[in-house]
Amino acid sequence: MNQFSGKFITFEGGEGSGKSTQIKMLLNAMHEAGMEAIRTREPGGSEGAEEIRNLILLGDKNKWDGETEALLFFAARRDHLVRTIWPALKAGVWVVSDRYVDCTRVYQGYGREGDKEGIETLYRFIAGDFESDLTFVLDIPSEVGLGRVMARTQDNWTPDSINRFEKQELEFHKRVREGYLDLARKNPHRFAVIDASKDIESVQAEICKVLRERLGAPLT
Ligand code: TYD
Repeated sequence: MNQFSGKFITFEGGEGSGKSTQIKMLLNAMHEAGMEAIRTREPGGSEGAEEIRNLILLGDKNKWDGETEALLFFAARRDHLVRTIWPALKAGVWVVSDRYVDCTRVYQGYGREGDKEGIETLYRFIAGDFESDLTFVLDIPSEVGLGRVMARTQDNWTPDSINRFEKQELEFHKRVREGYLDLARKNPHRFAVIDASKDIESVQAEICKVLRERLGAPLT
Protein backbone atom coordinates (compact mmCIF):
# COMPACT_ATOMS: atom_id res chain seq x y z
CA MET A 1 0.00 0.00 0.00
CA ASN A 2 1.27 3.50 -0.69
CA GLN A 3 1.49 6.00 2.16
CA PHE A 4 -1.19 8.34 0.73
CA SER A 5 -4.93 8.27 1.31
CA GLY A 6 -5.84 7.81 -2.39
CA LYS A 7 -5.26 4.50 -4.16
CA PHE A 8 -3.06 4.03 -7.22
CA ILE A 9 -4.38 1.59 -9.83
CA THR A 10 -2.47 0.84 -13.02
CA PHE A 11 -3.46 -1.01 -16.19
CA GLU A 12 -1.00 -2.97 -18.27
CA GLY A 13 -1.15 -5.31 -21.22
CA GLY A 14 0.10 -5.85 -24.72
CA GLU A 15 -1.03 -3.92 -27.77
CA GLY A 16 -4.76 -4.16 -28.48
CA SER A 17 -5.66 -5.55 -25.05
CA GLY A 18 -8.51 -3.03 -24.66
CA LYS A 19 -7.04 -1.01 -21.77
CA SER A 20 -8.38 2.37 -22.89
CA THR A 21 -11.97 1.15 -23.23
CA GLN A 22 -11.87 -0.58 -19.84
CA ILE A 23 -10.32 2.44 -18.12
CA LYS A 24 -12.97 4.80 -19.52
CA MET A 25 -15.75 2.47 -18.33
CA LEU A 26 -14.12 2.11 -14.91
CA LEU A 27 -13.83 5.87 -14.42
CA ASN A 28 -17.53 6.26 -15.25
CA ALA A 29 -18.40 3.55 -12.74
CA MET A 30 -16.21 5.14 -10.07
CA HIS A 31 -17.74 8.57 -10.58
CA GLU A 32 -21.25 7.11 -10.50
CA ALA A 33 -20.37 5.45 -7.19
CA GLY A 34 -19.33 8.87 -5.86
CA MET A 35 -15.61 8.11 -5.81
CA GLU A 36 -13.10 10.85 -6.56
CA ALA A 37 -10.92 9.44 -9.32
CA ILE A 38 -8.77 10.66 -12.20
CA ARG A 39 -7.51 8.93 -15.30
CA THR A 40 -3.98 9.41 -16.55
CA ARG A 41 -1.49 7.66 -18.84
CA GLU A 42 2.15 6.89 -19.56
CA PRO A 43 4.25 7.99 -21.21
CA GLY A 44 2.59 11.33 -20.41
CA GLY A 45 0.10 12.43 -17.79
CA SER A 46 1.61 15.86 -17.11
CA GLU A 47 2.57 18.71 -19.41
CA GLY A 48 6.31 17.96 -19.47
CA ALA A 49 5.77 14.21 -19.69
CA GLU A 50 3.45 14.64 -22.69
CA GLU A 51 6.27 16.54 -24.46
CA ILE A 52 8.65 13.65 -23.77
CA ARG A 53 5.96 11.21 -25.00
CA ASN A 54 6.16 12.61 -28.52
CA LEU A 55 9.95 12.25 -28.53
CA ILE A 56 9.67 8.62 -27.50
CA LEU A 57 6.79 7.31 -29.56
CA LEU A 58 7.09 8.89 -32.97
CA GLY A 59 9.56 7.95 -35.65
CA ASP A 60 11.75 5.02 -36.57
CA LYS A 61 11.58 1.92 -34.36
CA ASN A 62 15.34 2.03 -33.76
CA LYS A 63 15.47 5.77 -33.14
CA TRP A 64 16.80 5.45 -29.56
CA ASP A 65 19.14 2.89 -28.10
CA GLY A 66 17.68 0.96 -25.18
CA GLU A 67 19.36 2.96 -22.40
CA THR A 68 18.44 6.35 -23.86
CA GLU A 69 14.88 5.20 -24.29
CA ALA A 70 14.70 3.95 -20.68
CA LEU A 71 16.01 7.30 -19.42
CA LEU A 72 13.34 9.14 -21.41
CA PHE A 73 10.61 6.96 -19.90
CA PHE A 74 11.93 7.62 -16.39
CA ALA A 75 12.27 11.37 -16.98
CA ALA A 76 8.65 11.48 -18.11
CA ARG A 77 7.61 9.28 -15.17
CA ARG A 78 9.28 11.49 -12.57
CA ASP A 79 7.42 14.54 -13.89
CA HIS A 80 4.16 12.55 -13.96
CA LEU A 81 4.66 11.46 -10.32
CA VAL A 82 5.56 14.88 -8.99
CA ARG A 83 3.00 16.95 -10.90
CA THR A 84 0.03 14.60 -11.19
CA ILE A 85 0.08 11.28 -9.31
CA TRP A 86 1.42 12.17 -5.86
CA PRO A 87 -0.60 15.42 -5.45
CA ALA A 88 -3.82 13.58 -6.35
CA LEU A 89 -3.13 10.62 -4.02
CA LYS A 90 -2.25 13.03 -1.20
CA ALA A 91 -5.63 14.72 -1.71
CA GLY A 92 -7.35 11.33 -1.30
CA VAL A 93 -8.16 10.93 -5.00
CA TRP A 94 -7.93 7.50 -6.70
CA VAL A 95 -5.54 7.58 -9.66
CA VAL A 96 -6.02 5.17 -12.58
CA SER A 97 -3.08 5.08 -14.98
CA ASP A 98 -2.96 3.58 -18.46
CA ARG A 99 0.54 2.01 -18.08
CA TYR A 100 3.21 2.71 -15.46
CA VAL A 101 6.60 1.28 -14.43
CA ASP A 102 5.63 -2.38 -14.96
CA CYS A 103 5.47 -1.41 -18.63
CA THR A 104 9.15 -0.41 -18.57
CA ARG A 105 10.02 -3.57 -16.64
CA VAL A 106 8.33 -5.61 -19.34
CA TYR A 107 8.79 -3.74 -22.66
CA GLN A 108 12.38 -2.66 -22.01
CA GLY A 109 13.36 -5.52 -19.67
CA TYR A 110 11.69 -8.53 -21.33
CA GLY A 111 10.68 -7.24 -24.81
CA ARG A 112 14.00 -5.53 -25.61
CA GLU A 113 15.85 -7.87 -23.25
CA GLY A 114 17.46 -4.91 -21.46
CA ASP A 115 19.13 -4.62 -18.06
CA LYS A 116 16.40 -5.46 -15.54
CA GLU A 117 18.48 -4.43 -12.52
CA GLY A 118 19.37 -1.12 -14.15
CA ILE A 119 15.65 -0.46 -14.62
CA GLU A 120 15.01 -1.13 -10.90
CA THR A 121 17.85 1.22 -9.93
CA LEU A 122 16.45 4.02 -12.09
CA TYR A 123 12.99 3.43 -10.68
CA ARG A 124 14.23 3.64 -7.05
CA PHE A 125 16.05 6.86 -7.96
CA ILE A 126 12.87 8.58 -9.19
CA ALA A 127 10.23 6.98 -6.95
CA GLY A 128 11.83 5.41 -3.83
CA ASP A 129 9.70 2.47 -2.68
CA PHE A 130 6.44 3.78 -4.15
CA GLU A 131 4.49 1.15 -6.15
CA SER A 132 0.94 0.75 -7.41
CA ASP A 133 -1.67 -0.57 -4.96
CA LEU A 134 -3.04 -2.79 -7.70
CA THR A 135 -1.97 -3.51 -11.27
CA PHE A 136 -4.33 -5.10 -13.78
CA VAL A 137 -2.77 -7.07 -16.61
CA LEU A 138 -5.24 -7.38 -19.47
CA ASP A 139 -3.94 -10.61 -20.96
CA ILE A 140 -4.53 -11.56 -24.58
CA PRO A 141 -2.59 -13.69 -27.10
CA SER A 142 -0.20 -11.36 -29.00
CA GLU A 143 -1.61 -12.33 -32.42
CA VAL A 144 -5.14 -11.42 -31.34
CA GLY A 145 -4.08 -8.07 -29.82
CA LEU A 146 -1.99 -7.06 -32.85
CA GLY A 147 -4.89 -8.09 -35.13
CA ARG A 148 -7.14 -5.66 -33.22
CA VAL A 149 -4.56 -2.84 -33.64
CA MET A 150 -4.30 -3.47 -37.39
CA ALA A 151 -8.09 -3.46 -37.80
CA ARG A 152 -8.31 -0.18 -35.84
CA THR A 153 -5.72 1.66 -37.97
CA GLN A 154 -6.58 0.24 -41.40
CA ASP A 155 -9.10 2.90 -42.45
CA ASN A 156 -7.08 5.97 -41.51
CA TRP A 157 -3.52 4.88 -41.95
CA THR A 158 -0.52 7.23 -41.73
CA PRO A 159 3.04 6.18 -40.74
CA ASP A 160 2.43 7.67 -37.28
CA SER A 161 -0.80 5.82 -36.60
CA ILE A 162 1.22 2.76 -35.55
CA ASN A 163 3.66 3.68 -32.80
CA ARG A 164 7.27 2.48 -32.58
CA PHE A 165 6.38 -0.40 -30.28
CA GLU A 166 3.50 -1.69 -32.34
CA LYS A 167 5.99 -1.93 -35.24
CA GLN A 168 8.14 -4.44 -33.31
CA GLU A 169 8.05 -8.04 -34.48
CA LEU A 170 5.70 -10.69 -33.09
CA GLU A 171 8.45 -12.32 -30.95
CA PHE A 172 8.90 -9.03 -29.09
CA HIS A 173 5.19 -8.96 -28.25
CA LYS A 174 5.26 -12.58 -27.10
CA ARG A 175 8.13 -11.75 -24.72
CA VAL A 176 6.05 -8.80 -23.46
CA ARG A 177 3.09 -11.05 -22.72
CA GLU A 178 5.28 -13.59 -20.89
CA GLY A 179 6.98 -10.73 -19.01
CA TYR A 180 3.69 -9.50 -17.57
CA LEU A 181 2.67 -13.02 -16.56
CA ASP A 182 6.07 -13.52 -14.92
CA LEU A 183 5.80 -10.28 -12.89
CA ALA A 184 2.26 -11.24 -11.87
CA ARG A 185 3.43 -14.69 -10.68
CA LYS A 186 6.21 -13.08 -8.63
CA ASN A 187 3.98 -10.34 -7.08
CA PRO A 188 0.54 -11.92 -6.68
CA HIS A 189 -0.61 -9.42 -4.02
CA ARG A 190 -0.03 -6.43 -6.33
CA PHE A 191 -1.22 -7.94 -9.64
CA ALA A 192 -4.52 -9.17 -11.05
CA VAL A 193 -4.42 -10.93 -14.43
CA ILE A 194 -7.65 -10.57 -16.39
CA ASP A 195 -8.55 -12.59 -19.50
CA ALA A 196 -9.00 -9.76 -22.04
CA SER A 197 -10.21 -11.98 -24.87
CA LYS A 198 -13.66 -12.05 -23.21
CA ASP A 199 -16.34 -9.52 -24.14
CA ILE A 200 -16.07 -5.92 -22.90
CA GLU A 201 -18.79 -6.20 -20.22
CA SER A 202 -17.38 -9.40 -18.69
CA VAL A 203 -13.89 -7.88 -18.48
CA GLN A 204 -15.29 -4.75 -16.80
CA ALA A 205 -17.31 -6.82 -14.32
CA GLU A 206 -14.17 -8.78 -13.38
CA ILE A 207 -12.17 -5.56 -12.86
CA CYS A 208 -14.85 -4.10 -10.55
CA LYS A 209 -15.04 -7.35 -8.59
CA VAL A 210 -11.28 -7.36 -7.96
CA LEU A 211 -11.37 -3.69 -6.88
CA ARG A 212 -14.20 -4.43 -4.43
CA GLU A 213 -12.55 -7.50 -2.98
CA ARG A 214 -8.96 -6.28 -2.77
CA LEU A 215 -9.28 -2.54 -2.11
CA GLY A 216 -12.83 -2.21 -0.78
CA ALA A 217 -13.92 0.03 -3.68
CA PRO A 218 -17.67 0.77 -3.39
CA LEU A 219 -18.41 -0.44 -6.94
CA THR A 220 -21.44 -2.53 -7.91
P1 TYD B 1 0.20 4.16 -26.51
O1 TYD B 1 -0.12 4.81 -27.82
O2 TYD B 1 -0.22 4.85 -25.27
O3 TYD B 1 -0.30 2.68 -26.62
P2 TYD B 1 -1.15 1.70 -25.71
O4 TYD B 1 -2.59 1.98 -26.07
O5 TYD B 1 -0.67 0.37 -26.17
O6 TYD B 1 -0.82 1.97 -24.27
O7 TYD B 1 1.75 3.89 -26.53
C1 TYD B 1 2.51 3.54 -25.47
C2 TYD B 1 3.62 2.65 -26.01
O8 TYD B 1 4.81 2.87 -25.25
C3 TYD B 1 3.27 1.19 -25.89
O9 TYD B 1 3.61 0.54 -27.09
C4 TYD B 1 4.17 0.70 -24.78
C5 TYD B 1 5.33 1.64 -24.79
N1 TYD B 1 5.94 1.87 -23.46
C6 TYD B 1 7.17 1.30 -23.17
O10 TYD B 1 7.77 0.61 -24.00
N2 TYD B 1 7.72 1.49 -21.92
C7 TYD B 1 7.09 2.25 -20.97
O11 TYD B 1 7.63 2.41 -19.85
C8 TYD B 1 5.81 2.84 -21.28
C9 TYD B 1 5.09 3.67 -20.26
C10 TYD B 1 5.28 2.63 -22.55
